[in-house]
Amino acid sequence: MSADRIASMLQEAMGLDQASVGSGVILNAIRKRMRETGVSDEKRFLALLNDSPDEMKAMIEEVVVPETWFFRNDAAFQLMVKHLSGKWKRAHPSRTPRLLSIPCSTGEEPYSMAMALLDAGYKTDEFHIDAIDISSQNLNKAQKAVYGKGSFRGEHLDFRQHHFNKIKTGYALESQVRRAVNFHQANILDHSQVNRFGSYDIIFCRNLLIYFNQPDRDRTARILSAMLNQDGFLFVGHAETGLMWKERFAAVPHSMAFAYRPLGSDEAARTSRPKLRALSRVPVIPKPKKPDSLHRPAKKKPTRPLSAVSDRKIESMKVKQEKGAMLEEASRLADKGLLEEALQQCEDFLKEKGNSAQAWFLMGLILDTQGDKERAKEGFRKALYLDPNHYEALVHLALLLDQLGELKAAQQLRSRIQRLQGHLRSNP
Ligand SMILES: C[S@@+](CC[C@H](N)C(=O)[O-])C[C@H]1O[C@@H](n2cnc3c(N)ncnc32)[C@H](O)[C@@H]1O
Repeated sequence: MSADRIASMLQEAMGLDQASVGSGVILNAIRKRMRETGVSDEKRFLALLNDSPDEMKAMIEEVVVPETWFFRNDAAFQLMVKHLSGKWKRAHPSRTPRLLSIPCSTGEEPYSMAMALLDAGYKTDEFHIDAIDISSQNLNKAQKAVYGKGSFRGEHLDFRQHHFNKIKTGYALESQVRRAVNFHQANILDHSQVNRFGSYDIIFCRNLLIYFNQPDRDRTARILSAMLNQDGFLFVGHAETGLMWKERFAAVPHSMAFAYRPLGSDEAARTSRPKLRALSRVPVIPKPKKPDSLHRPAKKKPTRPLSAVSDRKIESMKVKQEKGAMLEEASRLADKGLLEEALQQCEDFLKEKGNSAQAWFLMGLILDTQGDKERAKEGFRKALYLDPNHYEALVHLALLLDQLGELKAAQQLRSRIQRLQGHLRSNP
């Protein structure tokens, strides 16, 4: 059937795995392109796609997922600044750090990198940022740098006041930040296209590999590995931590940043434990209200005088704090690679404090890291039974089911994730 053939052409051209986006996305794109080109016969359209690179480009534009926002997963930007202005700076006192955002989509990610550095006191000529994407439409939007509500999520948006001007059509980014980013069009899977940009000290490659199949993920890992300097950091998306990195990279133990460094670097050798290398599969993710974290650390809420709080409330606050501390300890142990101890901590938690979606989710992650896929599946399922909208459990279970070949069930979960994302978008 032509649609299947077109899906495999897209996979070859850009890495898009039909199973990850669902066949509906590809079918809609085909219908739209057939309408716009005036070709009503599928076979003729297939021939056009084969013969015309421009039509292939137009088709790619229809299927890319541009979803992104400023300071998506803020912890990554904080760690990036800490690394560059700390150890990295001491090792390279007179060098300008080189940073890459690939894929950069409509620019929110590389501009966040620039804002984070400028806010930390860097001048625009003290760093170099390249930003790459396959989609010219996305790159055009990035260069216009006028953003609507969807690009600003979460409560902590002070950066919008500092770096944007409100205009009729949205928020226009100030020119200092715009000038700090160099945009380029390239396909991450084409080594010769991306190779020409040189090597980097920081690479953000987030929320792309979830759309790739395993061979293309491996290919990307090889390409990124060649582009990352020996003491550089690679940041991935939170759902991508377990995909393909552990052969080439070691996890940087920093909660919620999802950062890696090349295996073989001094630091990686010190921090990675051969037996527990699968630690790279253990992102420690608190149950989010929204799919991602916030730009600025939460402001402390004013504390009410104790006299205004009833004994029962004090008791329930204490219980909550205790529960939080126990799970935090489990996350910390997992972060350090002490997986058995972390698992034990979760089990103790469930025994002492009763059922908790977050505890089951964390157990799922740890078991998955240890390779116990069946019990990991059970952990994620229990988390979802207790909290059907546990975003991270949905994402991790979908990936696990993919690996176990339960593709239909994985696809159903992806539909749930999409519905949840839609809901969160319309209720920011
Ligand atoms: C979901 S966005 C991720 C943006 C950003 N990294 C983030 O995490 O917010 C995915 C982007 O990947 C781009 N893309 C898809 N396939 C690509 C490829 N083979 N090479 C480069 N970019 C690609 C799409 O155009 C889209 O802009």
